[in-house]
Amino acid sequence: MNKNYYITTPIYYPSAKPHMGHAYSSIVVDFFARFKRIEGYKVFFLTGTDEHGLKIQRAAEKNKKKPLEFCDEISKTFKELSKTLNLSNNDFIRTTEKRHHKSVQNLWNILEKKGEIYLSKYSGWYSVSDEAFYSDDETETRDDVKVAKSSGSSVEWLEEESYFFKLSNWQNKLLELYEKSPSFILPKSRKNEVVSFVKSGLKDLSVSRKSFSWGIKVPSNKEHVIYVWLDALTNYLSAINYPDTNSDMYKNFWPADLHMIGKDILRFHAVYWPAFLLAADLPPPKRVYGHGWILSGEEKMSKSKGNILDPVEIINEHGLDALRYYLLKEVSFGNDGNISKEKLISCINSDLANNFGNLCQRVLAFTEKNIGLQIPQIDSLNKEDLIILNSYSDNYQNLIDFINNQNINSYMNFIVDQMFKANKYFNDQEPWKKKEDTKRLSTIIYTSLELIRKISTLLYPVIPQSSLKALNIFKIKENEIYIETIKNNSFLKSGSAINKIDILFKKVIVND
Ligand code: ME8
Ligand code: MG
Repeated sequence: MNKNYYITTPIYYPSAKPHMGHAYSSIVVDFFARFKRIEGYKVFFLTGTDEHGLKIQRAAEKNKKKPLEFCDEISKTFKELSKTLNLSNNDFIRTTEKRHHKSVQNLWNILEKKGEIYLSKYSGWYSVSDEAFYSDDETETRDDVKVAKSSGSSVEWLEEESYFFKLSNWQNKLLELYEKSPSFILPKSRKNEVVSFVKSGLKDLSVSRKSFSWGIKVPSNKEHVIYVWLDALTNYLSAINYPDTNSDMYKNFWPADLHMIGKDILRFHAVYWPAFLLAADLPPPKRVYGHGWILSGEEKMSKSKGNILDPVEIINEHGLDALRYYLLKEVSFGNDGNISKEKLISCINSDLANNFGNLCQRVLAFTEKNIGLQIPQIDSLNKEDLIILNSYSDNYQNLIDFINNQNINSYMNFIVDQMFKANKYFNDQEPWKKKEDTKRLSTIIYTSLELIRKISTLLYPVIPQSSLKALNIFKIKENEIYIETIKNNSFLKSGSAINKIDILFKKVIVND
């Protein structure tokens, strides 16, 4: 069985500092990466920055900087955000790196040699903000400004010599791919949009620009730079040593398991990218998931709209794990989601402090007081102990399936449900009334500690720092976490010492 897993975020434009939308995609990918690792997979998690094209060139000019100097600065803030978000990415790629230039030019040469690219002339609309070409019927006039209907960003008229990729040749092969791999594009609703776009007929795609220079040169014609999307998408190959297709990295990790992206860039990933790859005789990725947008009010949060929420501010105020938990639990994954401080605080107070944090504190305090800081001996488990302990093994396959289907909400609901049930178990068993019956007292404590261990293990991909703190009760280290162990009802060894831990989450007091 292939135990490798390759997952990516989009590579972000360093045209301005990162915002909550970028943080969201990255946290989601980190969640899946961490889960697959504790499932025993060798995971390669890639993120990075997309640094070429007119959008970046203009942003640099506006800031009176050379493009590379400008990219160095902003790319650094994205790299720092990865640390702030505690991302477990294995690499951070910048498209201005040499390894990437080599990879893009190689892919271009193959496409050209295979006759998939020809020189002609482009005339049509172009959005610099989206770095996308639009046909006339994809645009409209809003407040006297010509904009792309899909994104609302302004378009400009473009007429220049350009290389074209024979996208029209790949229509049937793409439809075949969508048919053969029904979950190549998720969620389903977005897949349907892509399929009808492809069915409506594909035009050849302009893949070079001549009127500016900030990009990777077309190897056979230095007057052209390669279209920034052909450049950017290839990052997924550059990071695993392409063009060296004999390298271990390439052999282990291509095709990628999952490109996680926002729905704004689905067409590039689900149409153009697999077409480029098929045309170059390379296998397409296994899945592209286009998640929804984090909204600010009713609008998409975006750099160009200036309505951004700064993840760093929220983290400074409430902590990283509160933010991660909130985004993963409260956004209905796949759909758009509104961010609200009230909901964030309610997550901290009810789920994290009252539910999970409280479970850890009360069980630990009770254990210390009654039997000392150690794992008790157990005699036999009764029906109630077994029901709650076994619900993890009973649902194990469901949990694995949730992750493999990117069903974050069901995964989170299971955890929340288990936190409630564990607290309820401890209440209902009333161990404080069983001090005479030491066997039963020990069994209740043992069961409660096992429940804390299981829940903390499930929480590792969600809130890694807090999960590790909780698992430190049992001296379980990060490289010793395995999801399989939630099936085990007697993982904890009787007689071994346990640690006290600090309060995991403080309640937020709201002053009206
Ligand atoms: O499109 N809500 O870069 P980009 C949720 N460089 N996610 C959001 C978001 C929001 N409001 N705003 C941004 C690009 N994102 C290209 C990608 S990939 C080969 C090249 C996230 O800086 C989401 O993942 O505009 C979206 O697809 C991505 O950031 C776009 O980032
Ligand atoms: Mg964008």
